[in-house]
Amino acid sequence: MWVEKYRPRSLKSMVNQKDIVERLKSFAEARNIPHCIFAGPPGTGKTTAALCLAHDLYGEAYREHLMELNASDERGINVVRQTVKTFARVRTLGEIPFKILILDEADNMTSDAQQALRRTMERFTGTCRLILIANYSGKIIEPIQSRCAPFRFTYLPREDQDAYLRHISESEKVQLEAEGLNAIYEVCGGDLRRAINTLQAAASLGKPISNEIVYSVIGRANPLDVREMIQLAMNGNFIGARDKLREMIVKYGVAGSDIIRQIHRELFRMRDIPELWKVKLADAVGEIDYRLISGADEEVQLSALLARFIEAGITMRRSG
Ligand SMILES: Nc1ncnc2c1ncn2[C@@H]1O[C@H](COP(=O)(O)OP(=O)(O)O)[C@@H](O)[C@H]1O
Ligand SMILES: [Mg+2]
Repeated sequence: MWVEKYRPRSLKSMVNQKDIVERLKSFAEARNIPHCIFAGPPGTGKTTAALCLAHDLYGEAYREHLMELNASDERGINVVRQTVKTFARVRTLGEIPFKILILDEADNMTSDAQQALRRTMERFTGTCRLILIANYSGKIIEPIQSRCAPFRFTYLPREDQDAYLRHISESEKVQLEAEGLNAIYEVCGGDLRRAINTLQAAASLGKPISNEIVYSVIGRANPLDVREMIQLAMNGNFIGARDKLREMIVKYGVAGSDIIRQIHRELFRMRDIPELWKVKLADAVGEIDYRLISGADEEVQLSALLARFIEAGITMRRSG
């Protein structure tokens, strides 16, 4: 897995998140850390930062001083009581007097489990430091938050993600086209885990990575195709729009419900549709989405949606 292969080992090789990395480096130099909360969206380096910090503190054998637990695997109170206690109680042998417990998805813990965790934190502060990882720090109870140093991770900027993906492509000797890189950003935003996984899936086809390949491995239609379909419908070309729709379903293997979501997204990005019409059409998209969820026939409903776009196009032209 490339996400593991290319995961930085040390804080100094982490990309961006500069303030966070600086603060963590100073902990590593001081050979001491407080309890921490790493909060932020997925794929931005939270787990990586925790592992790098441990590596820089303990050296190559850092795994011996570390435990990774996923709070949502067995999110009950018992995990915290048993596993954490057993781990936290035993002193480590090395020069640093504490171990590190990384608790991933801590925001999925029930508040009872968090209360138990808080008591454990108090009892074992001498022998164990916690790094809580969460998407939303707001879901962590206040008594825990107040005992932790907070770190807020943000999505990586486009240029950092692009540079990282280019670097991986070069080392793996895969040809990554500019359009392919665009498509990966379009689909993954700044979620680097998703971006790397998408790159690897696309590379596994053994061809240069184009936007078409990216969209097909991810099971999404090319947004340009979606726009073209909307445009065709609004120009009154029902057959053309329906053919485009079928083509997308076949070519990219997209589910009807996913196309609906993409139509919704592209609708708001199309500059030549007046605001009022976007609102009306968004309402139509919502209605069709609901019908599909309720089990209505996909092909019939998607045609019905195209009909709404055609209707809108006619009325728009009439009113000038
Ligand atoms: N800031 C970063 N610097 C370097 N690599 C990163 C960074 N953020 C994410 N990655 C890469 O993306 C993958 C997922 O990162 P991870 O730390 O697991 O994200 P999460 O924030 O979800 O814990 C890792 O393999 C890592 O290589
Ligand atoms: Mg993680």
